[in-house]
Amino acid sequence: MDIVIGCDHAGFDLKEQIRRFLMEDLGYKVEDRGVFSRDSVDYPQIAHDVASLVSKGRFPYGILICGTGIGMSIVANRYKGVRAALCHNIYTAQLSRMHNDANILAMGGRVIGVGLAQEMVAVFLSTSFEGGRHKRRIEQID
Ligand code: RB5
Repeated sequence: MDIVIGCDHAGFDLKEQIRRFLMEDLGYKVEDRGVFSRDSVDYPQIAHDVASLVSKGRFPYGILICGTGIGMSIVANRYKGVRAALCHNIYTAQLSRMHNDANILAMGGRVIGVGLAQEMVAVFLSTSFEGGRHKRRIEQID
């Protein structure tokens, strides 16, 4: 399975760590949409790019990282079919899949450490949607 990932300057360091973790530890192919340095950029550009790829079905899951994860999640959730979850711990990462069928994980590079972020990514990608009453609720979103 391929994963698309993107960040702004504030998420660059964590994005690099997560990209390597996805490839080397979890065995995913990663489409890295940047950025590729700590030079200041505007996070909506990256969020639009990654969210549109998930919205079009080009990738089943995406990961977006900025300073807080807030801006990235706000932009991504404007795309049809995108359910971006801003998560700060393993519980929310897991429940975002089980109850919300989240397809983008948003995280804050200035908020969480790399070890926690790696665990969150692993849980996010290995947890199934529960369906049932949660499917009915998701169908009411759009
Ligand atoms: C950049 O300073 C910061 O505003 C951005 O990374 C993000 O946290 C926005 O939500």
